[in-house]
Amino acid sequence: MKAETVNPLAFVDDELRDLRVRGLWRWPRLLEGPQEPVARYDGREVINLCSNNYLGLATHPALKAGALLAIATYGVGSGAVRTIAGNMAIHQTLEGELAAFKRTEAALLFQSGFTANAGTVAALLGPDDVIVSDELNHASIIDGCRLSGAQKKIFPHKDVGAARRMLSESRGARRVLLITDGVFSMDGDIAPLPALVEAAEGHGALMMVDDAHASGVVGRDGRGTVDHFGVHGRVHIQVGTLSKAFAGLGGYVAGTRSLIDLLMHRARPLLFSTSHPPAVAASALAAVRVVQAQPELISRLWENTRVFKEGLRRLRFDTGMSETPITPVIVGDEARAMALSDRLFEEGVFALSIAFPTVPRGRARVRTIVTAAHTATHLEAALEAFARAGRAVGVI
Ligand SMILES: Cc1ncc(COP(=O)(O)O)c(C=O)c1O
Repeated sequence: MKAETVNPLAFVDDELRDLRVRGLWRWPRLLEGPQEPVARYDGREVINLCSNNYLGLATHPALKAGALLAIATYGVGSGAVRTIAGNMAIHQTLEGELAAFKRTEAALLFQSGFTANAGTVAALLGPDDVIVSDELNHASIIDGCRLSGAQKKIFPHKDVGAARRMLSESRGARRVLLITDGVFSMDGDIAPLPALVEAAEGHGALMMVDDAHASGVVGRDGRGTVDHFGVHGRVHIQVGTLSKAFAGLGGYVAGTRSLIDLLMHRARPLLFSTSHPPAVAASALAAVRVVQAQPELISRLWENTRVFKEGLRRLRFDTGMSETPITPVIVGDEARAMALSDRLFEEGVFALSIAFPTVPRGRARVRTIVTAAHTATHLEAALEAFARAGRAVGVI
């Protein structure tokens, strides 16, 4: 007798249907051209307030020239994982300059900021250990914690007292890691790093900061929150990304020589995934140099941030806890946040709505990031669009 045929993929359609029913089905807008302050998405020229291209380097001539030269010289691929045959001179040069930039002994490249966080946490911590983590830390930190098998203790956002209590309760553990984002990606606020560092030191814990949104943005020449707060040498593990202000792709860990040496032997993304193509490393190298040679880019980023944030607040939008170029417009209701984003797009501004589970329920928002490349005219036009759209959907 022939067995009844079952479609093992039926659940896929079920889950998609469920997403549609709940209004959660999305397909990202299509970028048709370069990542610029005014860009073409879905066939429409819009003021782009969605990218992490903080300094406008995605189209910078020096980065493009670096990538092209690397292709001409070395070809397009590294050919292997780092630890087999894919360890290229350009990788090591970039690591040297990243370490100097971060004022650490050494740095190690990862394929992304995501794998830098997840791979590092999972390499250093295990089931006998405890990780004390801010509740708003990035998904890559959360995944790293899961992969490590360590016990997780999650403290309320920026609540140093709670973190300290959790560290005290973890005294019996083999190792304890206190971990925070430097700049929180959905709210744009900055971690209370000096107090966290003190708490970690008081309990003999490792201190790790994810400066994905701080590198190239915060601190002198964009060196990140460790520099911003003057806590050099007191944060054991600094993660940065090359995918945001540095405009390409990749992540890195900066720390002591021995930490980096151990990660080279233990971090699974390094051991089991191919290293950067030379062009990607070369454009990142150019970015590190441009960031330090052209400090006016960071000044412009912050001036644009000030103008835009003040404009939003003048219009009586709620910009939450933001202290950086990441400026959320808190709406609360998910459908209304989506309506605001849609209306803004019609008005010529691309600013995406973000809802649960990326942010807590009832805290849906339209998230904006201005860049150094936006002009005063762009910002003025964007604020006018926000005023019209905000009134139209009843947010202001
Ligand atoms: C706080 C934070 N950490 C890490 C990452 C991951 O970085 P990447 O895009 O380089 O993987 C992101 C962004 O996506 C982020 O916002």
